[in-house]
Amino acid sequence: MAKVEVDLANVPTGKNLVVKWRGKPVFVRHRSDAEIKEANSVDISTLRDPQTDSERVKDPHWLVMIGICTHLGCVPIGDSGDYDGWYCPCHGSHYDISGRIRKGPAPTNLEIPEYTLDGTTLTVG
Ligand code: FES
Repeated sequence: MAKVEVDLANVPTGKNLVVKWRGKPVFVRHRSDAEIKEANSVDISTLRDPQTDSERVKDPHWLVMIGICTHLGCVPIGDSGDYDGWYCPCHGSHYDISGRIRKGPAPTNLEIPEYTLDGTTLTVG
């Protein structure tokens, strides 16, 4: 009952979709090959919350994460910030194209929810 199913077939490459799940926004991004390359080019030893991109995705073309800033809970804005990802305007946290915190006060990366991906059918929860 707490699951939500969405068909991602109509989400173009390079676009974001926001899905509501348990009252929270879930960010889905259809990443381009260039974005995947960028996400994998980061030296994770430089990160505040070190995670490889592959630890954060099931399919590299689809990034799925909870759209709540890990600082104090605002909703970050897509396609913005200094790292081609998300920017939280509340206190200036910048997340990269893998949703990892890169600059600003947030302590951890954007959280990854439980989900499954079957072709283009996303089930969150
Ligand atoms: Fe996002 Fe503070 S709530 S930076």
